[in-house]
Amino acid sequence: MKTAEKEIVTLKRSLLVDTEKKLNKQIEMEGRSSAYYLSMASWCEMMGFSNSAKFLYDHADEERQHMLKLFKYINDAGGHAIQPEITGIRHNFNSLREIFELILEHEIEVTKSINTIVDHCFMVKDFATFSFMQWYVTEQREEETVARRALELFDIIGEEGIGLWTIDQELGKLHASIEE
Ligand SMILES: [Fe+2]
Ligand SMILES: [Fe+2]
Repeated sequence: MKTAEKEIVTLKRSLLVDTEKKLNKQIEMEGRSSAYYLSMASWCEMMGFSNSAKFLYDHADEERQHMLKLFKYINDAGGHAIQPEITGIRHNFNSLREIFELILEHEIEVTKSINTIVDHCFMVKDFATFSFMQWYVTEQREEETVARRALELFDIIGEEGIGLWTIDQELGKLHASIEE
């Protein structure tokens, strides 16, 4: 490894090429989350689950903000943030419960990806990116908790009769509680 490749901070940049690649992959993941939740929001709206739809439209916006935060970080550090190609987003779902199961699974994957980046930053002693990524670590903990609370509603309330309607109302309240 040449000195220029080893040094994190140079006159041109304060980001290793390898770290930049990993952060761009994370941009792709946040962009994919945003598209995925937008698609879920639309399905919920079409099915008449208006509170869940609002929850997911807002969640899609948040994921886009997570993506933009990475754009800014990479470019400020002298790298180049890349607008990702996002294809293959699912449009149809079998049930409201399935949507919240998929969200939890997806968020767990995102957490793993973030942990991999944090681990890498620690290994290469890039403490600036390590510190920047802590925001995502905390955010993931919160998002997983919300996804688990949402899923629990299906078991507590049950989906028969007015169950699904009640779950949608409760999802609206859960959403309002995290907005505060
Ligand atoms: Fe995110
Ligand atoms: Fe997320």
